[in-house]
Amino acid sequence: MDAVVAACREALARPGPAIVLTGAGVSAESGVPTFRGAEGYWTIGAQEYHPEELATLVAFSQMPWEVWAWYLYRRGVCRAAAPNAGHAALVRWDAALPDRFALVTQNVDGLHRRAGSPDARLHEIHGDIDLMRCARDCTPARDPIPTAVPAIPRGGAVPEAIRAELRCPRCGAMARPHVLWFDESYDEPRYHLDTVSRLAAGAALVVIVGTSAQTSLPWHVVALAARNGAAIVDINVEPNPFGDIAARSAGAIRAPAGEVLPELVDRLA
Ligand code: OAD
Repeated sequence: MDAVVAACREALARPGPAIVLTGAGVSAESGVPTFRGAEGYWTIGAQEYHPEELATLVAFSQMPWEVWAWYLYRRGVCRAAAPNAGHAALVRWDAALPDRFALVTQNVDGLHRRAGSPDARLHEIHGDIDLMRCARDCTPARDPIPTAVPAIPRGGAVPEAIRAELRCPRCGAMARPHVLWFDESYDEPRYHLDTVSRLAAGAALVVIVGTSAQTSLPWHVVALAARNGAAIVDINVEPNPFGDIAARSAGAIRAPAGEVLPELVDRLA
């Protein structure tokens, strides 16, 4: 930890954004299952699906209500969870560096926002599980999933009466979860692609927390920032490809985010 703190101080003495890039691991201590952990799997009929098969436009086109059931189950888990000490530490860091802090999250669980991270500096690059939008794209606008829509129990189906709530309030077409799927692309209006790329290009520091490094925009952020001289830190309970990059830069810490982030932020802020 001492070496990482020293490297972060050195990086923060240089100009440029300080980016924290989070993944499911930051919410693990809040009880939200990680994406690729054992609890991520989902059974429909006799078939067991991997999240990467369900989180697709193709799956939604073929079995929309089964995909909605999976999202409404996960939404229920997220809503029942509370932010942890790691989320809270990032709110304190934001307050200490308001002119240069940026929080880029792959998580759709909304826990950074509920902890108090301001929208202005929060980039939810994979969307928000509490929002829906028109599946026919009649407008780029998003709407909160209506409060009448309940959590679906594990293995449950979306009740007929609830299906009527999951419609675009403008054109009446079916609504879809406001999340980026595996067979879709990042963009600026929905997923902050250009903003995050710009931040990464000038970053002084990137602290990566709790991600297995499987998606492309996080790779772009880390590679671009590292190429332009940013210091890279990785916090994760397990080795991962970003850890290898961090080990050659400011350092990798193998411990839970809820323990590491409060200490790191207290020593830096
Ligand atoms: P994963 O489930 O792939 O990885 C979670 C990471 O968190 C793993 O590397 C764990 O070792 C680590 N981890 C677990 N508990 C931790 C803790 N307490 N402290 C620190 N680290 C911990 O989740 P992501 O990498 O976030 O995207 O997955 C990235 C994206 O893959 C998701 O946002 C999702 C999926 O594609 C979309 O749906 C578009």
